Parts: sequence; structure tokens; C-alpha cells
Amino acid sequence: MKRTIKIFLSCMAACLFLTSCQGVRKEEEKTSIRIGISLYRGDDTFINNIRSIIEDKAKEYERESGIKVTLDIQEAKGNQNTQNNQVERFISLGCDVLCINPVDRMDTSLIIDKAMTANVPVVFFNRQPVEEDMNRWDKLYYVGVDAKETAILQGEMVVDLYREQPEAVDLNGDGVVSYVMLEGETSHQDSLIRTEWSVQTLKDGRVPIEKITGGIANWERSQASALMEQWLAEYPDTIELVISNNDDMALGAIDALERAQIVGVNVIGIDGTTPGLEALESGKLLGTVSANKEIYGSAVIKLAASCALGEEPPEEYPLTDGTYFWTPQEILITKIKENL
Ligand code: BGC
Repeated sequence: MKRTIKIFLSCMAACLFLTSCQGVRKEEEKTSIRIGISLYRGDDTFINNIRSIIEDKAKEYERESGIKVTLDIQEAKGNQNTQNNQVERFISLGCDVLCINPVDRMDTSLIIDKAMTANVPVVFFNRQPVEEDMNRWDKLYYVGVDAKETAILQGEMVVDLYREQPEAVDLNGDGVVSYVMLEGETSHQDSLIRTEWSVQTLKDGRVPIEKITGGIANWERSQASALMEQWLAEYPDTIELVISNNDDMALGAIDALERAQIVGVNVIGIDGTTPGLEALESGKLLGTVSANKEIYGSAVIKLAASCALGEEPPEEYPLTDGTYFWTPQEILITKIKENL
């Protein structure tokens, strides 16, 4: 009897050993990963630019690593409920990791709940969840840009130009630069910080500024264009500088200036989007601050892939507090003014 039990136990042990070895082998040999991506809106120019880079970088990663990457990309059309449902679907489809561009960055707790329950890590990007939510789990990451750094770079463009050639900024030579401010969504971390720090940088750089007016255009070209048209009518021959929280709204202001056949007003944006760079090339946009989108997209994909494979985050993208990757950014300014 004793012998039978012994044999039985040894068989059990052997089986367990084999199963666990298989488990390890399975983990080691993971040859494909599935990434669920949800974008807050599909018609946002900057997000669309980032989306194509993410797609390119996924292909590049696939080529380099030999690991097949399946991307499931959905657009939430500005609706948090839709996005929550997309997350649920991604999880039920067996996604190994999620990359989420939240609709409402203050309301990511449901997404995090679902991800934690299913043990699926999340890489958030561009719309930064509140710290309290990010601190809930060690498998939550964020890829974005440092909004204060962006704003300081945007302000410095004007400070430098003013120092070199004040008349290129103070167009009427009255000793004051009169500006208007175009702001993005009120709840977006980037709008608040960009608005505050671009102006602060102008003040710190001793550019004598005066705010004519400002308004919220929710990152949108058409809304910005309507606002600018209204301001040009309300404050004729007054506006010398348009400071915009992003390129799309800057382009909206340029549209309004063109309609009113006004030339010379300086317009500065942020993002370095494809249409933004075209406007820069043609001299319509004075300057922009651009995140390195190659690095941005790569960081999202490589971080996501490492999560999916259960590996440590990639060293080439150092994480602040083990959680945040801040993409490097640079100033891009029109050639004519660059050579002053
Ligand atoms: C970009 C905007 C974009 C927004 C979307 C910002 O960081 O500058 O262009 O519309 O993110 O969340």
C-alpha cells in the first residue's frame, strides 16, 4: 500500500514539474502579443499623428524582435462610457496590455479597476490621469510631454526673437506686445500649465506684454478661427501676437487672419503636427514646440511590449518614479526669423 502511495506521489510530482516547466517555456517563448489601444477622439490632429507613429513603431518592433504584434485600435469619440466598454472588450479579447488615451483624465478609475482585476497592465498617454489613480497599481504607466517644459520653450521663442529684433514682435513700436491666448480643453493638464508658463516665461524674459483677451477653443481649428475672427473685429489693429496652446488652434487663428487679409501678426503653436509644420515651412506660423514623435511612439510601443511579455520596462526610456516617461521636445521656428 505504502509503495502504491509513493509511486502515486512521485507521478504527481513529475506531472507538476512537467507542467511548471511547460509554463515557464510558454512564458519564455511568447511569440505574439496583442495590444488594445483606445484614442479619446479619432479626429484630433495631434493624436492622429501619434497614432500613425505608434503603428509604424509596432511594425518596427515586430521586425526587430520577431514577436508578432497585433494592434486593436478604437476611437472613443469623446465619450468615457464608450471607452470603458472598449477596455472591457479588449480584456475579453485577451489583450496582453492596454494603451489608453483617456477621454476624461479625471475619470480613469473604472479603466484601472477592470485592468487590475484582469491583471492587464495599462500605458496611458497624452491625457494624464490624476496622481491618486496612477498610484493605485504598479502596472500603470504614462507617456507624455512635460507641459511646463513645453510652455517655457514656447515662451523662449518669443523672448529670443524680441531680444534680437524687438520690432519683429512689437509690431507697432509702442513698447508693448499685445497678445491673445488660445486655450485647449479646461480639464486637460496641458492647457492649464501651457497657458500659465508661456506667459510667465515672457514676463521672466522681460518682454513687455499686455493681454488683449483669450478664450477656450478646445484644441480645435474651427473654434479658434471663430474666436479669432471675433477678436479681430472687437480689437482692430491691436493684436500683435497669438499664443496658442496647440498648432491646430494656431492654424485656426491664421485662417481668420487670412480671411481678414491681415499680415504680420505672429502666431505660435505647440505640437509640430503635419499641418503645423507645413504652416511653419510657408512662414505662416512663427514657431512651434514639437515633442520627438518617433521617441513618443516608440516609448508607448516598447513599454507596452515589455509589459505584455512580463519584462522590466526598457532602459532606453527612463521612467520618473518608475511610472512616467517624459518625451524630449524642441523648438521649431520659421527659417526667416531663425536667421535674424
Ligand atoms: C495636444 C493637442 C491635443 C491634445 C489632445 C495636447 O497635448 O497639444 O493638440 O489636441 O493633447 O489630448
